[in-house]
Amino acid sequence: MATISAPEYLLGQAKRRLTPSFNNFPGMGAVERRLLRTEFPPRKLAEPPPGSGLKPVMGDAGLPIIGHTIELLRGGPDYLLFLYNTKGPVVFGDSPMLPSVAALGPDAAQTIYSNRNKDYSQQGWVPVIGPFFHRGLMLLDFDEHMFHRRIMQEAFTRPRLAGYVEQVDKVASQVVANHWVVNDARFLLYPAMKELTLDIASMVFMGHEPGTDRELLTKVNKAFTTTTRAGNAVIRKSVPPFTWWRGLKARELLENYFEARVEERRGKDGNDLLTVLCQTEDEDGNRFSDEDIVNHMIFLMMAAHDTSTSTSTTMAYNLAAHPEWQQRCRDESDRLGDGPLDIESLEKLESLDLVMNESIRIVTPVQWAMRQTVRDTELLGYYLPKGTNVIAYPGMNHRLPEIWTDPLKFDPERFTEPRNEHKRHRYAFTPFGGGAHKCIGMVFGQLEIKTIIHRLLRRYELQLARPGYEAIWDYGGMPVPKDGMPIVLRPLNR
Ligand code: HEM
Repeated sequence: MATISAPEYLLGQAKRRLTPSFNNFPGMGAVERRLLRTEFPPRKLAEPPPGSGLKPVMGDAGLPIIGHTIELLRGGPDYLLFLYNTKGPVVFGDSPMLPSVAALGPDAAQTIYSNRNKDYSQQGWVPVIGPFFHRGLMLLDFDEHMFHRRIMQEAFTRPRLAGYVEQVDKVASQVVANHWVVNDARFLLYPAMKELTLDIASMVFMGHEPGTDRELLTKVNKAFTTTTRAGNAVIRKSVPPFTWWRGLKARELLENYFEARVEERRGKDGNDLLTVLCQTEDEDGNRFSDEDIVNHMIFLMMAAHDTSTSTSTTMAYNLAAHPEWQQRCRDESDRLGDGPLDIESLEKLESLDLVMNESIRIVTPVQWAMRQTVRDTELLGYYLPKGTNVIAYPGMNHRLPEIWTDPLKFDPERFTEPRNEHKRHRYAFTPFGGGAHKCIGMVFGQLEIKTIIHRLLRRYELQLARPGYEAIWDYGGMPVPKDGMPIVLRPLNR
């Protein structure tokens, strides 16, 4: 249910029409401008049943073969905002690559996430990541999903998280202090952060001590990167030597690696996630099979890795661009000092929570939520037949002017009393999803990211590579800064 009042909503709608992204977006070139102005022949998803009173979902197919890929890749959330403004909340994209319905705005997100009648299944993700991450938690549905989620939940209890934080901190302090290049505008934060989060995962998820098993870990980490990227392949068939095929080969390597690790860790003690998954059981004593653990570990690595990398990179960028927020966060970090971190101390870094929320509002790591209808249904009065791919776009909802004041402005105070802009609609702010599939690793991820940024702030002043530098994001998969995000780390005199 929308919690925003009618006059506020109307005012917001009017403001929306005045935002720059109504008919253009940053970095837009002549090709995209032309495409936005082009009226493609209309397409109807399906005829609603007579007498149902439902409207048909209308849209178009865009360009031959590639549909609207160019606008989506270039504009990301801004292109979707354009669609919402010009075509409404439910729009059909009859792309040959993936015909789908865009479910735009927080009301549509609410229907999909809360999934009251169990109309929407996670099978919507299958065409994109299914072959590489099958039977990962996010790809399971309904009773089977609940069964697995209840067991996995045991690996994310507070005492377990306390164990992970200790290990995250060990790796993060080490890498940030000793491996990152200082006083150099050529230092690229994004790849460095990616390596760091993989190093953290190697220890916290897989139980390898830092600096050990380098050769094996390099192979495994490379396989992760290949598997994760494979979903973006243009040729979406297993043809050697192309991306899809490489992704499947990399998945095989990961399966072999984890099968061996599970055999090794069963019945052993340990605080790493893999060993914990080997031990955990739900209240009824249900446990994961070896095969379940392999599938879950491969998915967890993917789910945890690019999301944390993207969030910590965006946060560091925003802190460099807003020195007053950097100082405010550093003041809180200074109160903690350089001692070992635990959950209680990380909870004291409240300004960092605000910066994190604002960073993932503006650049949302998981831009889409993909679903498929399991029966004929309706969405906001539009008819959706069984088997329709439906995509909600939290990344766009996070930029709606009827919810967010001056949406493109970095303004973390919007998350505090009395403004509380994120509470204007129950589904206004969903960077971690919502409903039964809400991110199970949310708290872990937040603790990991705060640990990394705390360690950075204690050692360095973060500066943009040049005054006025603005990051440009590639929205092909998870948002990635196109230039790798140069940031200057100036060691602090302490
Ligand atoms: C900033 C970091 C993160 C963000 C923004 C994020 C975002 C999300 C989102 C949006 C979903 C829901 C997808 C959907 O509705 O289909 C999700 C699900 C999930 N995430 Fe995260 N995630 C993050 C970190 C993590 C971490 C660190 C882990 C593991 C340790 C993790 C594990 C998962 C799993 C297993 C699911 C599937 C849950 C289910 O289907 O029940 N995530 N995440």
